[in-house]
Amino acid sequence: MIRFWSYDKEYKKYKNSILKNVHKTLKRGNIFFGDQLEIFEKNFKKKYKSKYGIAVGSGTDALLISLKTLNLKKGDEVITAANTAIPTISAIINAGGIPKLVDIGEDYLIDVQKIERAITRRSKAIIPVHLYGQMCEMNKIQKIAKKNNLVIIEDCAQSQGAKYGRKFSGTIGKFGCFSFYPTKILGAYGDGGFILTNDKNSYKKIKRLRFYGIETVERNKFKNKYYANVNGYNSRLDEVQASILNFKLKKTDGFINKRRSLAKYYCKNLNSANITLPKENFNCKHVYHLFTIHHPKGDLLTKKLYKHKIQTRKIYPYPIHKMKAYSKIIKNKSSLKNSEKKSKGIICLPLYPELAKREILKVCNVLKKIIKTI
Ligand SMILES: Cc1ncc(COP(=O)(O)O)c(C=O)c1O
Repeated sequence: MIRFWSYDKEYKKYKNSILKNVHKTLKRGNIFFGDQLEIFEKNFKKKYKSKYGIAVGSGTDALLISLKTLNLKKGDEVITAANTAIPTISAIINAGGIPKLVDIGEDYLIDVQKIERAITRRSKAIIPVHLYGQMCEMNKIQKIAKKNNLVIIEDCAQSQGAKYGRKFSGTIGKFGCFSFYPTKILGAYGDGGFILTNDKNSYKKIKRLRFYGIETVERNKFKNKYYANVNGYNSRLDEVQASILNFKLKKTDGFINKRRSLAKYYCKNLNSANITLPKENFNCKHVYHLFTIHHPKGDLLTKKLYKHKIQTRKIYPYPIHKMKAYSKIIKNKSSLKNSEKKSKGIICLPLYPELAKREILKVCNVLKKIIKTI
């Protein structure tokens, strides 16, 4: 079976270093808030050229906590793409906002031509989701946000290391929110997330919110005391995960280069097939968190690939407004047709740094054969 994703080979390759790091960390005696977290926060924000960096418990928490700093009032709206991950939407709702969906373009990213139609006097923020590893059209989004006084929160869960012009994903908006879910560009061996920001005040708020509302930055009589300044959360990245992430962060550029070269190999071998291949937009550096193709008979292809022992995924099978939890909240459903159309035919093929070229070649050959028969 060619698996859609697996950490077996990675673990085998780095097992000694990972276990050494974990052992050293456990011997130091801190499970939370120790030097591994501090080092990781410093390295991550430095790598992506941001002033402040705060690790949290997951990508979902990164979005939720960033949104919480905005103090949304009842009825405030947050704009995002209709084909995003569930957590983008749950974070908006759990922070007290109403999600306002915008349709996507041919590149599966929010259609910037349609954003302004979704803006009302209650709009407070916009979450561009850099889906599959490619950044949204940030120049236009910045202009719209400035004109309409919207805070930009980048959902970078799938785009760590991607670039728009010379800027890294997560450094253009007020907040950049990352996920270290194991399948991601930088995957933990558990859950984890991160927030980048250049705003000092938000940094302080986030530090409080991630740890029960306790003050850890500002010098006052309650600093580091078990005293809640605000109502917060429990959203910690533990030392063991931080030590694994520290080790893997050094390898991240290599992981991305590998993903890019494997994506190129896929494209070369699928060029003649009658399917839509992913494209790198002008001014963008794609990191290929996912290699997503499109075919009108996507589901049938998926089934047949599985019969040939090739695992694929559909990310995502339902646009947000088609799910029971959200269908009543979303009012502009008729304007989201492209996300519905696209969701029907997408297939994500296996792509991760340890995948062998011969495995990709097999996927391509099988896929081309199947396409000829359907
Ligand atoms: C686009 C997007 N946003 C948010 C998240 C949430 O991240 P996590 O799973 O770390 O909570 C994910 C991860 O699945 C994602 O892909």
